[in-house]
Amino acid sequence: MRAMSDDTDTLRTATDLVLWAEKRFEQAGLSYGHGTTSARDDAVLLVFHAAGLAWDCPEEAVQAALPAAVVRQAIANVDARIETRKPAAYITREMWFAGIDFYCDERVLVPRSPIAELVECGFEPWIDASRVQRVLDVCTGSGCIALAAAAYLPEATVDGTDISDDALAVAAINLERLGLAERVRFFKADLFPAEKGLYDVIVSNPPYVPSQAVLELPAEYQAEPALGLDGGVDGMDPVRRLMAESAAWLQPGGILIIEVGGEVEALEQVYPHIPFTWVEFERGGDGVYVITREELERYV
Ligand SMILES: C[S@@+](CC[C@H](N)C(=O)[O-])C[C@H]1O[C@@H](n2cnc3c(N)ncnc32)[C@H](O)[C@@H]1O
Repeated sequence: MRAMSDDTDTLRTATDLVLWAEKRFEQAGLSYGHGTTSARDDAVLLVFHAAGLAWDCPEEAVQAALPAAVVRQAIANVDARIETRKPAAYITREMWFAGIDFYCDERVLVPRSPIAELVECGFEPWIDASRVQRVLDVCTGSGCIALAAAAYLPEATVDGTDISDDALAVAAINLERLGLAERVRFFKADLFPAEKGLYDVIVSNPPYVPSQAVLELPAEYQAEPALGLDGGVDGMDPVRRLMAESAAWLQPGGILIIEVGGEVEALEQVYPHIPFTWVEFERGGDGVYVITREELERYV
């Protein structure tokens, strides 16, 4: 809660609000990692959203006096972030992913996978983007990977699956907003869709946090659906199934891309004999590997 002596009377501009919010977030000891990495990032996100300012807006806009109603909304956003400990994206109801603005709410994980960078490159250099005709995004959540893949690969068709009706409802909102219904389909499925097919790329950011560790995550993560995080006792339940079943769904030369985040050791314990190829990202993030259909057939 805010101190009784109101420290908000002097807040006029976006700069005033961001500096004030950053200090309050630091005092409150919040956690970050939902598409933002610091108190400053969250402050900018929540204040700029209230003010309708773009990230790259001119300096004059950031220094201009804001209408009182906008200042009140920005303060309400900041209060909500501290009081609920929800990720900022659940307050603004949006998150940028691969340069695209996605709707999101508490029914889905906040989009933040480093796989965004791979999607922006049409999955190159791991596969020739011009040969990618079909992509399958398993565990699609908000649909961010599937829809971004369709946006960056305009000749490809994309299928996305999720086991959660709630997540699929959010994916449907994003599908409609982005106008990609002709090339993207979402299915309710336990990993693989009912309709058998062969894909050039299977990509997945599955739940991979060990069940016990999920319970110990900061409040910001507890605000997300546990179904999106909990990967079973060692975190590897969905990954094991993806590794075992994907070869049958891939074209020759096709690739499987999986995120396991901080669970690299857990993966390597399950598959000590596989020489995994880990993706290096320019914008940060790790724990994403690429494996070909032929490697899956050979090693799994
Ligand atoms: C880590 S979230 C990823 C969401 C999205 N792809 C992203 O990167 O933001 C994992 C998603 O997998 C879904 N899920 C969990 N188990 C599943 C299963 N057996 N089959 C399909 N989807 C599943 C969850 O509902 C959740 O939406």
